[in-house]
Amino acid sequence: MALRSVLTGVGSYLPERVLSNAELAKRVDTSDEWITERTGIRERRIAADDQRTSDLACEASVKALEAAGRDAKDIDLIIVATATPDLTFPATAARVQAELGVSQGAAFDLQAVCSGFVFALATADNFLARGQAKAALVIGAETFSRIVDWEDRGTCVLFGDGAGAVVLEASEEDGDRGVISTFLRTDGRMHDLLYVDGGPSQTQSVGKLRMVGNAVFRQAVEHISGAMLEACARAGIPLDEVDWFVPHQANQRILDGVARKLGIDVDKVVSTVAVHGNTSAASVPLALDVATRDGRIKKGDLVLMEALGGGLTWGAALVRV
Ligand code: ACO
Repeated sequence: MALRSVLTGVGSYLPERVLSNAELAKRVDTSDEWITERTGIRERRIAADDQRTSDLACEASVKALEAAGRDAKDIDLIIVATATPDLTFPATAARVQAELGVSQGAAFDLQAVCSGFVFALATADNFLARGQAKAALVIGAETFSRIVDWEDRGTCVLFGDGAGAVVLEASEEDGDRGVISTFLRTDGRMHDLLYVDGGPSQTQSVGKLRMVGNAVFRQAVEHISGAMLEACARAGIPLDEVDWFVPHQANQRILDGVARKLGIDVDKVVSTVAVHGNTSAASVPLALDVATRDGRIKKGDLVLMEALGGGLTWGAALVRV
């Protein structure tokens, strides 16, 4: 019988410090009204000075392991999707592995910016489906507050820090739970629409986030919609059979634009962007965790996750949870 990757637990973590729109308006020329109307974001979380991306990742992972009823000895693959690693190297995943007490298997980072979690989920699914690992922790964790230009009102209002994680287990059981289909895409010709202007090889510095917001917006609505349709087509499942849509939480207007374009009932779209802003790779598992813990997403539901980010990268994953 073919192996399937079954999602058995989800967890998330947001740092304690809340940064409201009103507080931001004291730092840059903006207003609560502008930010809420254009993005739907009301507040975001900021990691404490001594909190690293790996710390956020570990907090989320402990909760995901608890939800799955698993512990460190069960995990033999860790993938951390992040664009804000603790250090240039080693991988943030290596520190997460050590902190969690996992002493087997591989741990590595994956860089696809805001699409990172969907890319990491698809990657882990391939390892599990080929029998190369038994149980994976797939994590999205970010400290974007460290790379945002706090003087650029066009970007600093959008981003926040956080982490989310899932446990994905290889299963031979006869059932229809698990990752059903994934679709990943990169188009590097658009790398300069959203990037960080520093890095070890080019500038020997960390750099700050730069974005052509309105162009990214247009690309997002088009490509996220396309990825969702493609993931459903690959599974042979029509879009209207999906129970819950869990999008990358970038901007409420992108979520609404995609729902409108595809004729999706907005009540089926999980939105948490108001309370944490764009947390990049962390946002899909963060939203998945919220809607699972509040009872909306139930075992057996068909969930479509989707994202677009720097690269540009985009993708979708259809999962029966
Ligand atoms: N407060 C007040 N005014 C602002 C702010 C702000 N925070 N930011 C920009 N403005 C001004 C601009 O300076 C401009 O003023 P001007 O007309 O005098 O020049 C005006 O608002 C309009 O600027 P636009 O950039 O055209 O505004 P737009 O309606 O496109 O909204 C936004 C900007 C919210 C960034 C939008 O483009 C967007 O959401 N883009 C998607 C980007 C995104 O979510 N990226 C995240 C990473 S990718 C992803 O996750 C999908």
